Amino acid sequence: MENRNTFTGKIGFILAAAGSAVGLGNLWRFPYLAAKYGGGAFLFVYILLAVTFGTVLMITEISIGRKTQLSPLAAFGKLSKKWGWLGKLATFVPVLIFPYYCLIGGWVTKYTYATIADLGAAAQDSYFGGYVSSSVEPLVWFGVFLALTTLVVLFGVNKGIEKLSKILMPALLVITVGLSVYVVTRPGSLPGIKYYLLPNFKELSFKTFLAALGQLFYSMSLAMGIMITYGSYLSKEEKITEATHKIELFDTAIAFLAGLMIIPAVFNFSGGDKTALSTGPSLMFQTLPKVFNEMPAGRIIGALFFFLVLFAALTSSVSILEAIVSGIIDEFGMKRVPATLIVAAYGAALGSVCSLGFGIWSNIKIIGFGILDFLDFISNNVFLPLVGMFTCIMVGFVIKPKSIIDEVESNGAFRSKGFYSVMVKWIAPIFIFAILISGILQSFGILKI
Ligand code: TRP
Repeated sequence: MENRNTFTGKIGFILAAAGSAVGLGNLWRFPYLAAKYGGGAFLFVYILLAVTFGTVLMITEISIGRKTQLSPLAAFGKLSKKWGWLGKLATFVPVLIFPYYCLIGGWVTKYTYATIADLGAAAQDSYFGGYVSSSVEPLVWFGVFLALTTLVVLFGVNKGIEKLSKILMPALLVITVGLSVYVVTRPGSLPGIKYYLLPNFKELSFKTFLAALGQLFYSMSLAMGIMITYGSYLSKEEKITEATHKIELFDTAIAFLAGLMIIPAVFNFSGGDKTALSTGPSLMFQTLPKVFNEMPAGRIIGALFFFLVLFAALTSSVSILEAIVSGIIDEFGMKRVPATLIVAAYGAALGSVCSLGFGIWSNIKIIGFGILDFLDFISNNVFLPLVGMFTCIMVGFVIKPKSIIDEVESNGAFRSKGFYSVMVKWIAPIFIFAILISGILQSFGILKI
């Protein structure tokens, strides 16, 4: 078992947890989901779920980690012998996410380069499609990103990365604020701002709820054991509720700003054509180069922006890989280097399949999804809600909410503990179950309302 150092000071923990939480989920995934699932309606549902389910799960996971001082694989088993499988299931989700996360990381790497090399070309409509559907180039950039991630984990330079992130993450926040102000103040942005900020409840559907729930877990790295791991490093002196609120606020702020930077720009460039909103995973890559291309010093600002996104993606992919590797070490007693290399090889194989799914294999559909979209759907919209739901059930009925409350209260007040107990025991599992089932049925067109 590796030594569990506790973080030096509150800021260290919050930055590390936020560094893992803030990544492509906020900058790439949130804006395209918000655009697709009704703008303001999605934003509203997302925030509603974040302050309720998000808070409850984050408090739960951090507490479980700090209480047991174990990795998620072992933690569930220790709390209750019969629930060890949940730790395995939770650790399995990053396995599904890792390959395609690195593929998108490769897209970001490519765009960092393309913004410097030929911004005019990158801003063309057909550029993205041409790039992802080619066979070799995306694989090369994917390889670069995967290799960077693997090297960081192999050489254990996480500490260095953490230091760097103290400068680069605030820089990302600053540039995101700057860009969203720029986009919002462009002429013609108003319809986009309205679409994003004013909820139109006609756009609400179960699919919106399921997409928002999956996104919430994904973005805050919940229901994958990650926050359990971070909790196990949190010192007994820190207040769990405070830490939770700060991580959530930071994560949501970045996602919100990313939406504000992208969605009004989509309206702007499409001349109000709403079909541009449902572009999906390509949204950020198609929209932002256009913004950079028409702004002063766009090449430099654009390259800097993509570089910071790249860094945020790297801190997240490192912690995804780290989670899988430490799971394998704990479970199979394997050594760090072979375990890392095996996971990297697996990531390379499956990520390449995802990439070719945009080109020569674009006719392959799994229950109606392309390969990457399928992995994304099943991990975020099926497994994450399932793990979240079972975690609540386990806490509510097996180890009891009181054990979590005691951990939180071991150093400070837990003002909303009554609310916490009802949420974790009844409201969260019942609602997650309902959202999961109805959202899935609706996604497949079985449920039509
Ligand atoms: N939360 C990260 C993001 O928003 C992505 C992520 C998913 C992640 N699973 C993870 C990060 C596991 C660290 C560990 O981009």
